[in-house]
Amino acid sequence: MFELLDRPIVLVGLMGAGKSTVGRRLARRLGLPFVDSDVEIEEASGASTADLFERYGEHDFRDGERRLVARLVNGEVRVIATGGGAFMDPRTRQLLNERAITVWLDAPVDVLAERTTRRDNRPLLKKGNRTEILARLSDERRDGYAEAQIHIRTSGGAHSDVVNAIVEALRERFGG
Ligand code: S3P
Repeated sequence: MFELLDRPIVLVGLMGAGKSTVGRRLARRLGLPFVDSDVEIEEASGASTADLFERYGEHDFRDGERRLVARLVNGEVRVIATGGGAFMDPRTRQLLNERAITVWLDAPVDVLAERTTRRDNRPLLKKGNRTEILARLSDERRDGYAEAQIHIRTSGGAHSDVVNAIVEALRERFGG
């Protein structure tokens, strides 16, 4: 579809923003492979991200995540969904913005809170009130996510609308 597309497309944003679901659909639409960094971490380590947080702590998880994302972004052209914290690491952020097309999926806190109730697997959300934690993370991380090259505002609507908005933004940059 986009012949000039020579870099991976990387989705960033908070938990529940739809990175994995939208990423999978976007990949299908573009005829590209899809990879999810959390799933890769879980397959490589044989443990869930929640277990890894518990066993090694957030700091070590972030180290492993940074190395894995660096490896993924240097591979083939594909769609990559990252874990919500990956883009907060300044080195990862710089690398992704240099080597990939970064897309921030920006959703309101109430939508994130509702979506993250569907799977109870996020260690950061187990430490208190889900909506409060997401509101705090949203404040803390906004400036970082805003460094992504493409900013897509999403609401609780259909994922297909988000895919369309990303395709449109890519078209503006790459023609096709
Ligand atoms: C995290 C997001 C999670 C996962 C881990 C930490 C974060 O990924 O990597 O629980 O710091 O925002 P998702 O955004 O895919 O839920």
